[in-house]
Amino acid sequence: MRAIVYTGTGGREVMRLEERPDPVPGSEEVLVAARFAGINTADLAQRAGAYPAPPGAPQDVPGLEVAGTVVAKGAAVRDFAEGDRVFGLVGGGGLADRVLVHERHATRVPERLSDEEAAGVPEAFITSHDAIVTRGALGLGDVLLVNGANGGVGSAGVQIGVVAGARVFASARSAHGQLAELGAEAVLPDDAVAAVQAAGGADVVLELVGAPNVDRNLDALATKGRIVVVGTGAGTDADLSLRKLMHKRATIHGTVLRARPLEEKAAAVQAFAHEVVPHLASGRMRAIVDRVFPVEEAADAFDHMAGSGKFGKVLLAF
Ligand SMILES: NC(=O)c1ccc[n+]([C@@H]2O[C@H](COP(=O)([O-])OP(=O)(O)OC[C@H]3O[C@@H](n4cnc5c(N)ncnc54)[C@H](OP(=O)(O)O)[C@@H]3O)[C@@H](O)[C@H]2O)c1
Repeated sequence: MRAIVYTGTGGREVMRLEERPDPVPGSEEVLVAARFAGINTADLAQRAGAYPAPPGAPQDVPGLEVAGTVVAKGAAVRDFAEGDRVFGLVGGGGLADRVLVHERHATRVPERLSDEEAAGVPEAFITSHDAIVTRGALGLGDVLLVNGANGGVGSAGVQIGVVAGARVFASARSAHGQLAELGAEAVLPDDAVAAVQAAGGADVVLELVGAPNVDRNLDALATKGRIVVVGTGAGTDADLSLRKLMHKRATIHGTVLRARPLEEKAAAVQAFAHEVVPHLASGRMRAIVDRVFPVEEAADAFDHMAGSGKFGKVLLAF
């Protein structure tokens, strides 16, 4: 297989494209041949030495997600056969053209999606579905505020909110036209609180930016609203007014996907399979790909991932 390998921690100088033997599936794993791989900010954090892979996952091949075709399977695999197109989550090893995934961490790709589109789906849609629906309990008629709406997770979250029957406010510094096309009311971060308050307050906030929004989110929240913190790229530490929290009778959730035990990750993937994949199959939701880089230009792709103003996912092409 070909894989992006980290030779140590640091910047682009520790990235290599290497040939390695194909991995062999464990009893409940499938081996997926992938033409495209999604990049995540976690891959950048891992390269910098700040986010090591969980135990049991490949330690020197980054990548949190997979999409492609099953080419081999373990003896106990029940749900998939060679030739099936699948997508799902991995703890590491995703930036490769052969990727092992536990069968409960994968589900079938709808025919409508190309291989490229499928690669733009798993981490973005599973993360946002888990945060907004499973943790945030978004309901019909609710107001959803997505902070950092133009990125991979945010643009998926906007679509999940719209299809779930919520009024969706997309807070972003760019891509307002595209976010409006997805069915959101696009606002600048500085205008988000006033816009959401005028709509009665946010029942759910999907927080993808971090610390600078903590106080604003409490102001934007409706009574009994839920803030779900998923990303902290703009900062991790902030003052929190417990008085505002009490008066709103609010809840703050924090969540990560990668470090979850096997069965909890499986639950998130299977909930996505049931509640999101049918809408990808019908075309009501779509994969949003910002840019595809050849795998030989992976370091440039990482630089692009770290930059501002993207709309959707950044992919590598093998
Ligand atoms: N907890 C989990 O399990 C999990 C899973 C997946 C992702 N994440 C995290 O969730 C976040 C979003 O992921 P992603 O893949 O969607 O990343 P992404 O595509 O890079 O999107 C990041 C978003 O945050 C915004 N942002 C970053 N810094 C900002 C700042 N200082 N002020 C205002 N906006 C800022 C970006 O806006 P601009 O384009 O204007 O910079 C963009 O909208 C990341 O922090 C990622 O690490 C967590």
